Amino acid sequence: MKEKLEQLKKYALDSIRGVKNKTELEELENKLLGRKSGELTNLLKGLKDLSDEMKKTVGPLANEVKTAIENVLATKREEIITREWQSSLKNEDLDITQPALPRSETGHYNPNTLVQRDLEEFFTSMGFMVLDGPELESDYYNFSALNIPETHPARDMQDTFYIKGHADWLMRTHTSPMQVRAMQKYGLPAGRQGAPLRAIVPGKCFRNEATDARHEHTLYQLEGVVIDKEINFGHLKGILELVAKHLYGPETRVRLRPKFYPFVEPGVNGEVTCFLCHGLGCKVCKGGGWLEIFGAGLIHPNVLREGGIDPEKYQGLAFGFGLMRLAMLKYGIDDVRLFNGGDLRFLKQF
Ligand code: PHE
Repeated sequence: MKEKLEQLKKYALDSIRGVKNKTELEELENKLLGRKSGELTNLLKGLKDLSDEMKKTVGPLANEVKTAIENVLATKREEIITREWQSSLKNEDLDITQPALPRSETGHYNPNTLVQRDLEEFFTSMGFMVLDGPELESDYYNFSALNIPETHPARDMQDTFYIKGHADWLMRTHTSPMQVRAMQKYGLPAGRQGAPLRAIVPGKCFRNEATDARHEHTLYQLEGVVIDKEINFGHLKGILELVAKHLYGPETRVRLRPKFYPFVEPGVNGEVTCFLCHGLGCKVCKGGGWLEIFGAGLIHPNVLREGGIDPEKYQGLAFGFGLMRLAMLKYGIDDVRLFNGGDLRFLKQF
């Protein structure tokens, strides 16, 4: 057996050296190592019939032969590929001796991306998943599933772009449609009733706005959803306070005031103390001392039901931040149109 192995090794190495192209190489490889009837494979199959004593010496030798053959095959393959590539270059009108162009300048992140990534890290550290949702939404998920029936005036506050010829399609006005989508996706197939669930959804949203320094037709939001047993308002306020302090420093305080959103009950409008004057009143907060940065509330039972969750068993909370607004406050940006404007003098600062 030992001799046979030595012979095969010599034969293999010699013939690999003589190979001229890829096809020949592949044929030879198959002949030697092929799984069904490769010569080495067949020899190795015989190993199991040897005495234990023999196995101890022949085993390692067999391995060595195999590795040696594989290595030489790999080197040969590399050689052939390089050669074929070089000869193919000869037929091309390409001068590989020409010096490369100088590397162009490194790009910059949009401040919005910076805030988004920072928050993704912050929330994943608390066990939240990061989800993505469709920007082209159905009327159902954007409105109806969120307890906003067809004739409800709340639709007027979120006018958007509709798709010609598809009455049911629109550009989503907020990331909230992902509340129900997430409940359905992560709940029902697993038989878990959509709970417990902890997720954030950063993403692009759209409104039919005439733009000015504070309004954009294309904006970014970050939605948060938590569903579990006995979720209450304390959890909501706790999370929002953590986010505010994380973004604007440990002295930041949060204030919640009642606000109507059809998909939460009760619903609130959340403000934080102005990062500049810490609540005393200044130009940034227009003298009020507080800055409005999110909408939030406990998920309405109708919405939970829409997601396949029994509101008697589970409760949920949801919040939605305007990401651009967070970035404006963090970096002192005074015109929202700069985010999508593509002006390098702006972007290069980040
Ligand atoms: N979707 C709401 C908006 O765009 C914000 C919100 C999210 C409010 C979650 C309550 C709960 O204005």
